[in-house]
Amino acid sequence: MLQPIDMLIHSAAQVCVVPAVGAAGSRRPQRGKVLGTLGLIPDGAVAVHQGRILEVGASAALRQLYQAATDIDAAGRCVLPGFVDPHTHVPWMGDRANEFEQRLAGATYMEIMAAGGGIMSTVNRTRQASLAELVDDNLPRLQRMLAYGTTSAEAKTGYGLNQAAELKQLEAIAALNAQQPIELSLTFLPAHAVPSEYRGRTDEYVDLIIHHMLPAAAAWAAERHLTLFCDVFCEEGVFDVSQTRRIFAAAQELGFRLKVHADEFVGLGGTALAVEMGAVSADHLVRTPVGDIVALGQSDTIAVGLPGTPFGLAEQAYTPAAAILEAGGALALATDCNPGTCWCESMQMVIALACRYMGLTQAQAVAAATLNAAFAIGRGEEIGSLDAGKQADILILNTPDYRHLGYRFGVNLVQTVIKRGQVVVHHRAAAA
Ligand code: NIG
Ligand code: FE
Repeated sequence: MLQPIDMLIHSAAQVCVVPAVGAAGSRRPQRGKVLGTLGLIPDGAVAVHQGRILEVGASAALRQLYQAATDIDAAGRCVLPGFVDPHTHVPWMGDRANEFEQRLAGATYMEIMAAGGGIMSTVNRTRQASLAELVDDNLPRLQRMLAYGTTSAEAKTGYGLNQAAELKQLEAIAALNAQQPIELSLTFLPAHAVPSEYRGRTDEYVDLIIHHMLPAAAAWAAERHLTLFCDVFCEEGVFDVSQTRRIFAAAQELGFRLKVHADEFVGLGGTALAVEMGAVSADHLVRTPVGDIVALGQSDTIAVGLPGTPFGLAEQAYTPAAAILEAGGALALATDCNPGTCWCESMQMVIALACRYMGLTQAQAVAAATLNAAFAIGRGEEIGSLDAGKQADILILNTPDYRHLGYRFGVNLVQTVIKRGQVVVHHRAAAA
C-alpha cells in the first residue's frame, strides 16, 4: 500500500541535497573546506508533504513508497534547493542610470555620494513615494527574483533615513511579504548614510537612530510579532566603528540581531566588530584585514560575499573567498540588489561571478547561495537545503547538471520554482 503524499518529484538526473553538515542531525552551515558538499543523488527524487521535505532518495525507491497527488517527472533535469538571497536593498524607488554613466566617465561611487548623490538620491525618491507606490514598484522586482530561483531573501530599509520613511519601508516589506511567494527577512538600516539634513552632524544622527528610530522600529516589530536585523554601513566617511558600535549596542538591547556592511571600500574594522558583537553576518569584506578574517573564521558570524557589487562598480577587488575558507569561515553569497552599486536580481548571475572572481567551484557557489545563505539570515534550521523536515523550497533546472550554474550566465536556467510545496513558477521553455 503506497503512502499518499502531496508531491513527488522524481527522475531527476541529480538531486543536490546540500546537506547541513552538523554532527548527529544538528544543522550547521558548510564551513571552510567542507563548503561545496552537495550530497548528489543520481536518478533522484524528493518527496514533499504539507509544505515540507519528507524524504530524498533514489527515484526507484521513493516511487515504491509514495503515491503523490502531484507527480512531477523531472525528466533528467537537476533539482536543488531554492536560492536564498541574504542581502538586498529592496524596496526602493527610481533608478540611478545617470550615476552609472558618471562612473563610466571616471567618477567614483564614494565621490558621487560625497557630492550629495548616491544613496541620498534614492532616499529622496523613496521618501516621496506613498506606501502603495513603493509596494507596487517593487512587486515586479520580487517576481523576477522568484523566476530566477530566489525563494527567500532579506530586504532592508535604508532609503528613508528619517523615522516615518524608514517605518514606511518596513511596512512596504511586510506588505510585499504578504503579496508574493518569496519570504522576506526584515533588516532595519537607518544607518545606511547620513541624510543631507544631518550633513556634518553624524553623531547627532546616530543619537536620533539610538533614541528614536530603533525604539520605534522595535515597537513596530513587536506589534507584529516580527524580529528585525539591524545593519550599519560601517565605512570611511559614513559611520565609523565607534558609531557602529553605539548603534549595535542599542539595537541588541532592543532585541535586534546584527548584520553589517563591512570593509567594502576601506578595511575599517567592521568585520572585527561583527565578530566581537556576535553579528549573524558580516557582508562585503572586500578590504578586510587578514587578522579579522582569521577571527571571523573562528566565529559563528557568516561571511557574505557580494561579487555583483565590485562587478557593478567595475572594480577589481573581490571578497577573498580562499582566505575565508582557509580560516574555516562559513561563506555565503548574495546579490546586494540595489540601484546604486549593483542592480542585479539574479543569484545565478552572482554564482557566475563568484566562480570567476572569488575562485569558487560551482559546487561551493551553490552551497554558499543556498544553505549558507540561509544561515546568513538566521534561517538555516528551516530552509536552504533538501534535508528532510525542512520547508519544501525547491528548484528544477532546465539542465541535467548543476555545473551549468556559474558556467552559463545571462540566461535563466531555472525551469520550475516550488515554494512551501507549491509550484509558483513554471517556464515552459524546452530543455536547454
Ligand atoms: O551595499 N554600500 C552601501 N549600500 C549599498 C549601496 C546602496 C546604494 O548605492 O544605493 C551596497 O553597495
Ligand atoms: Fe548592501
